[in-house]
Amino acid sequence: MKPNTEINPFIVGKYVSDEYFCDRKQETEFLIKQIRNGRNTAVISPRRLGKTGLIKHCFNQKEILENYHTFFVDIYATSSLSEFVYLMSRTIFEQLKPKSVKRKENFFNIIKSLRIGFKIDVISGQPSLDIGLADIQSPQTTIDEIFQYLEQVDKPCIVAIDEFQQVSQYYENNIEALLRTKIQQCKQTSFIFSGSKRHLMTNMFSSASKPFYQSAVIMGLEPIPMETYCDFAVSLFEKNSKHCEREVVQRVYNDFDGYTWFVQMMMNELFALTKEGETCKEDMIVTAQQNVIQIQQHSYMYILANMSVKQKLVLTAIAKEQTAKNITSSEFIKKHKLSSASSVQAAVKALLNNDIITQQDNIYRVYDYFFANWLRGEL
Ligand SMILES: Nc1ncnc2c1ncn2[C@@H]1O[C@H](COP(=O)(O)OP(=O)(O)OP(=O)(O)O)[C@@H](O)[C@H]1O
Ligand SMILES: [Mg+2]
Repeated sequence: MKPNTEINPFIVGKYVSDEYFCDRKQETEFLIKQIRNGRNTAVISPRRLGKTGLIKHCFNQKEILENYHTFFVDIYATSSLSEFVYLMSRTIFEQLKPKSVKRKENFFNIIKSLRIGFKIDVISGQPSLDIGLADIQSPQTTIDEIFQYLEQVDKPCIVAIDEFQQVSQYYENNIEALLRTKIQQCKQTSFIFSGSKRHLMTNMFSSASKPFYQSAVIMGLEPIPMETYCDFAVSLFEKNSKHCEREVVQRVYNDFDGYTWFVQMMMNELFALTKEGETCKEDMIVTAQQNVIQIQQHSYMYILANMSVKQKLVLTAIAKEQTAKNITSSEFIKKHKLSSASSVQAAVKALLNNDIITQQDNIYRVYDYFFANWLRGEL
């Protein structure tokens, strides 16, 4: 078959298929093994390494497609149980849409509390779930019904809850305990909890005083090995009648410490810059990076505009250092003309909460490599 040169094979921001997905064979095998054995799993890794992609890739494997119903809910933007329940209901209903009418009727027989929103389009005959957040009047009843529904469908269900750490931030009390109880009662439904806020996720699953303690197998994620990624990237160029020097991929991988999203963004742009039949060379990397940063520039400005002056100063200081240690030391404060240790601490707290910087052990860095570059004014 003639390769489709219209498609940029370096996919960013969504999952398409095995063909565009690099490696993660062991991780996929591991996750499927947990599912097969009815265990819940918590996938914890820094941002942009590929947690969401890995879960979607697992859901796309033959064994899972044939034997399970899969649901994927991203709860990043939720702040209450009602919103959580609203998203769960919508996701399950949307998933059922292409399936039989009987199954949809069954959905409303069990999830009675949402029956009010069940509509049939008079023209197309298509059923829809016409509910808003305000219709979730009794979230605890609806969540009970949702789990009851999942437990009685014809195949076991897998529910992936992405950005699960959000639950620990809900304004209602004891939501973790409530969910833990409901989840424990499920016999044929397994759960994948994933999240990038390491301290929150680890605290939820590894702290003896927390409801989810020991209730899931914990799985970390490392960058894809460099040589494996190089094979993948070079072969995608070849399949599309282009070439790429291996050194280009190696340099991009090293520049971004193998963090999948950033590496894929760069390779996507490098692929776009390479004409059919030509070879991607190292001297194209600077242009590719400039182009990627240019696309993001407006969002960087927006982020800065919403920050206090102190936060901006600390952020720029961290960006300049690339990886910053001892940020409250007098040496760091003097070097970057900051005011005091306590003001640095307050700024860092806000920057961490807003996912602008990351912290591992005592080392801080701007989590978005392109943003860091832009802040340093290198380009
Ligand atoms: N194995 C892979 N092969 C190719 N591309 C991948 C792979 N894994 C992830 N990606 C791509 O990298 C990007 C980042 O991955 P993903 O969104 O899965 O990371 P994440 O860990 O869930 O990030 P976040 O914590 O920000 O939600 C995605 O755009 C995805 O398309
Ligand atoms: Mg994700």
